[in-house]
Amino acid sequence: MQTKIDWRASFADPATAAADCVVAGFWAADKSASKAKNESAGKPKLTAAAARIDRACGRQLSKFLAGGDAAGKVGDMHMLYHLRGLKGGLPAARVLLLGLGAKDKFNAANCANAARVAVKLIDKHGLRTAYFCGWDDLGLDPRRAARILAEAGGDALYTFHTTKSKPPKKVKLKRVTLHCARVNLHSVRRGLREGAAIAAAVTRARDYANLPGNICTPTFLADEAKKLAKEFSLRAQILDEKQMQKLGMGSLLSVSRGSRQPAKLIVLQYRGAQKSAAPVALVGKGLTFDAGGISLKPAAAMDEMKYDMCGGAAVFGAVAAAAELQLKINLVGLIPCSENLPDGDANKPGDVVTAMSGTTIEILNTDAEGRLILCDALTYAKRFKPAAVVDIATLTGACVIALGDQASGLFSNCDALAEELLRAGKASGDRAWRMPVWDEYDAQLKSNFADFANIGGRGAGAVTAACFLKQFAADFHWAHLDVAGTAWRSGANKGATGRPVPLLVEFLLNRARD
Ligand code: BES
Ligand code: MN
Ligand code: ZN
Repeated sequence: MQTKIDWRASFADPATAAADCVVAGFWAADKSASKAKNESAGKPKLTAAAARIDRACGRQLSKFLAGGDAAGKVGDMHMLYHLRGLKGGLPAARVLLLGLGAKDKFNAANCANAARVAVKLIDKHGLRTAYFCGWDDLGLDPRRAARILAEAGGDALYTFHTTKSKPPKKVKLKRVTLHCARVNLHSVRRGLREGAAIAAAVTRARDYANLPGNICTPTFLADEAKKLAKEFSLRAQILDEKQMQKLGMGSLLSVSRGSRQPAKLIVLQYRGAQKSAAPVALVGKGLTFDAGGISLKPAAAMDEMKYDMCGGAAVFGAVAAAAELQLKINLVGLIPCSENLPDGDANKPGDVVTAMSGTTIEILNTDAEGRLILCDALTYAKRFKPAAVVDIATLTGACVIALGDQASGLFSNCDALAEELLRAGKASGDRAWRMPVWDEYDAQLKSNFADFANIGGRGAGAVTAACFLKQFAADFHWAHLDVAGTAWRSGANKGATGRPVPLLVEFLLNRARD
């Protein structure tokens, strides 16, 4: 659920901030300098803005650091009290000393981690206002640093309680002010606005994904698309099974035939550029529950297959963020939605279906259903004459084996597009790693009875799945993100992550600037 924080920028002196908590950063000891003659080398060090606070409260911060209790690792936190009224008078009730790690190693990931834990702690203390001083002066681009603060800070307060009977503890944190230099005010405001939009988009994706399969059905998602369209003045079109039948989407419809919930194809359109400008199309797998069909999955952790619509959820988020930020691009979001269940009318191994493109497919494993619904959505994308098509799908367990939960798998028929997405992933801290879709792999999809089989044997499962999709993406620049390992966490902290929304929004922001 979303907690609305009012993110502000100010160039007022941090020592005069009347917030419940002033956050002052400090750097970890510079290990290489420990043998230097300079006495202060080898000790943690206040940031420039923190030093200003320090001077205003009788050097209490540097005295604390000199005590040796704080190492300054990323997320190392110490709440200091009773600094009010000391020499010059600090109006804030508390100062949170926040470790930022080594100064020369500071990067976007450290910045996000520090922001995340600080906002969490501030909320845990039940505080209403916080003031981050000098966040624009940590060595990162000021706009980027502001974006990270709002994005990571907003995301840190996420809780999911829609399906709990009791409401959760209310978040008290209302306002966070980023103190910056006057010249950076404009960039910082922009960054905060972007970060807040990304956090809201990530929240939206996480919320849809965390809903159980009995609530989040294809029809539910279609209704949400209509709501989203109203909220952001988008065009929403929901294709029902009859319309899909007319279009010849025999592959997509074969998956939903085994389910009582009718399939839907959601089409969302955002226009932020001239009508003639070719849109980016995002295609998200919206499989609201994947039991595997007749090729039934084993029982262990099958509940997690409610997350098989995370690609679709990410498209919802990315489209919402683009609209909220009024990006100067045209965008189409396509979300094929279905369940995959065993049933008397379900796909059977050996069945041959005909996709909208006319291609015939032999279904050798009914659990390889993602590609069956995506291929028809990719064919449908062609009518928008897209500049680029990016599909996002929890497509293969093999991708989890290959890359774990660090990187999403990236596959593309276009080097420039692949580079663009890799860069967006790196910059946003939501990384992807490129894998091949060489034509040589296509041989694994050979079928004796149809144009292609829907599985490619034991080797390179993530690659052959991508190669299957590639057959339907020959007419445009296409990339595929396999997010099976990154879209949700298992175990005690089970829950959706909202990935790859940050990557996608970064990609769209960059496109809007070209
Ligand atoms: N949704 C699954 C992929 C998946 C499995 C994601 C486990 C995350 C964790 C997909 O529909 C699927 O079942 N894929 C099969 C393909 C196989 C039959 C070729 C898989 O990965 O096992
Ligand atoms: Mn499956
Ligand atoms: Zn699936």
